[in-house]
This record gives sequence, C-alpha cells and structure tokens, in this order.
Amino acid sequence: MNIQHKTSLSALTTMGLGGDAAQLVEVYSPDDVRQAVAYARQHKLPWYVLGGGSNTLARDDGFDGLVILNKIPGINVIDQTKQYTTFTVGAGELWDAFVAQTVDRNLSGIECLSAIPGTVGAAPVQNIGAYGQEVASAIAYVDAYDTKNDTFVRLQNAECEFSYRHSIFRGREQGRYIITAVTMRLRAVLPQPPFYKAIETYLREHSIANPSVRQLRDAVIAIRANKLPDPRATPNTGSFFKNAIVSREIYERIVADYPNVPHYDLPDGNVKIPTGWLIEQSGLKGALYRGMRVYDKNALVLVNESAKSYDDLAAARQHIINTVQTKFGITIQQEPLEIYTKKLF
Ligand code: EPU
Repeated sequence: MNIQHKTSLSALTTMGLGGDAAQLVEVYSPDDVRQAVAYARQHKLPWYVLGGGSNTLARDDGFDGLVILNKIPGINVIDQTKQYTTFTVGAGELWDAFVAQTVDRNLSGIECLSAIPGTVGAAPVQNIGAYGQEVASAIAYVDAYDTKNDTFVRLQNAECEFSYRHSIFRGREQGRYIITAVTMRLRAVLPQPPFYKAIETYLREHSIANPSVRQLRDAVIAIRANKLPDPRATPNTGSFFKNAIVSREIYERIVADYPNVPHYDLPDGNVKIPTGWLIEQSGLKGALYRGMRVYDKNALVLVNESAKSYDDLAAARQHIINTVQTKFGITIQQEPLEIYTKKLF
C-alpha cells in the first residue's frame, strides 16, 4: 500500500478549507479497502473515506488518522431487458460521468441528477436528490466492506434506510460501511411528467413537449449553471443546509405572516420549507461574513470567497443559524459531513 503522509485536506475538499490528513491511501479495489482498514487498525488510526470531497468539510486541525480515498473503478451492465438496464458501478467513478453514460443509452431514472459533483460511492450516503429524482429510487443494492465484522456485504435498497438526504451510511451506522460499488436499475422509457417546476419552465421556454432523457439532462445542466456555483471555480459544497422539515403547527404560524411561503406537504403531515427561502427572508442573501458569502443567486449555498479557516466558516454558519432561528424559530441543519479527529465507533 502506498501511504502518503501529511496531505492537505483543503485540496481534497471543494470548500477548500481545513488542515492536513496525517496519512492517506488511495484504494482501487475492494481488497485494497480491506487492506487499508487492516493497516489503520494495526497503527491504531481512525479512518475516514473520501470520494470527490464535494460534500465534506475539513476542520483546521485536520485529521489525525488515515484518509481512504475511494478510487474503485468500473461501469458494468449486469442485466438488460426490454424495460430495464442494470449497472454495477465502482464507488470511485465520477457520478456525472456515469449519468452521462446512462443518458447516452436513453435510459431514464437519474437524468435529473445530472451535473452533481462527487463520486458514485458518495451518492447513496446522502441519498443525492434534485429536480424530483432521488438516487434511492434507482438503487437496487449497495456493496460495501463491513468494518464491524470484517466482511464484504450487500445491502439491499430497503436495508440502506434511505430518506431525504439521509441513509444508514450517514445515520445509524455512520463509519461502519465502506461502499465499494452501487448497483442501479434504469428504465428504457421516456421520462414521465409532471416535472419539477424549474424544468417545466425550461421546457416551455424551449418549446419542448415530450422531453427525451437528453433534453432533461440539458435542462438540468442549464438550470444548475444559473443557481449553483461550479465547485471547480468557486469553493463551495452545494446546498450547505438541508431543507427544513417542520410540524404543521409551525408551518401555520409562518404562513400567517408569509402567505406565499414555498412548501411541500409530506406524507407524515409535516411540511418541508426551503431553507434557501428562510435564509433569504432573514435578509442574508448575498451577505459576506468572515470571508463566507451567502450565494447571491441561491441563499442555500455558502461560498468560500476569502475565508482563512474552518473557524471562519463555523462563525458564518452560526451567524446564519442564529439569524434564521431568531426570525422563524426554526433551527436549520447543515448538510455536508465533516472530517475530524474522533473515532466514530
Ligand atoms: N428559494 C428562495 N431563495 C433562495 C433559494 C431558494 O426563496 O435563495 C426558494 C425557491 O424560490 C423555491 C424553493 O426555495 O421556491 C426551492 O428552491 P430550489 O428549487 O432551488 O431548490 P432547493 O430546495 O433550494 C434542493 C436541493 C438541491 C437541488 C434542488 C433542485 C436540498 C438541500 N437541496 O434545493 O440540491 O439541486 O433542490 O431539486 O435539498 C445539494 O444538495 O447540494 C443540492 C444542490
């Protein structure tokens, strides 16, 4: 194994902040993963698995352990019928490169998840979602190394405990499983309306009646380019907060003052309110605080313009959380995960 020492985490995460990882290893196969974990155990190091670093924040004191950089390759069709094509994809493949391949084959299911940065292995962890699709709907199963029992396991979709921006991998069993491959089933049918509002608007403006999978991908790429800064050019981690899920009682209180509050009724009776809206209504859209900018086209995104440290980011985050809390009585929650020195289990 080729262990690298003292690697900058700011270069490995798209927010561009944070100290060094004491040690780092790139893994290219499930067996590399097993060996990396054995090495970490032998040297009494905590470990943390990183993909594209586009949904992970690093702290200033870095990580006094082993970063396992997941580079496991491979995009393979494992089953094909008239209706479906099933792919098994290595966790280290770039997510959008995989989406592009499915769109090339005219397959539907993840085309609205176009242009999301990061790797395939990271997609199930936070159950990536956008424009009416969630990766959970396409996933058949996830292969992983179970560090609790030192075995390779296959978790079927239901075992992954997917919910909004959440799964077993960042929830109940955070740190336990190292994802090696994701198997997804895509449909050989035209995408079916209704589409997400922003997509409907785009289709109308472009006079597209029955969009193909490629036209939907193009629509999403165009919409995203307007609303989300490209992490390769502007340090950020996409949505910095999760959308707020509140009780109907809290929603009723807000709607009394703001009759036009955007919201989605959830099946359990709770209501989802876009946090971008809450932040904008709190007067923070476009605000600069300790080098962190609340993005002027989308208040849900925090951009690192000139922050010097994770501490700057933490102060900006607290300021936003407190301001929204004071205005609406809602405590908003951060979306990205964090890498820091603490054994997870
Ligand atoms: N809104 C505002 N002000 C803002 C931003 C949004 O009022 O500054 C309002 C919009 O007008 C709209 C509502 O909030 O009524 C929802 O906005 P949008 O459709 O842009 O989506 P979002 O809820 O802000 C979520 C995902 C995005 C995903 C989009 C599109 C989360 C945390 N974020 O954002 O995902 O691309 O929907 O489906 O759920 C990500 O996770 O990194 C991400 C970019």
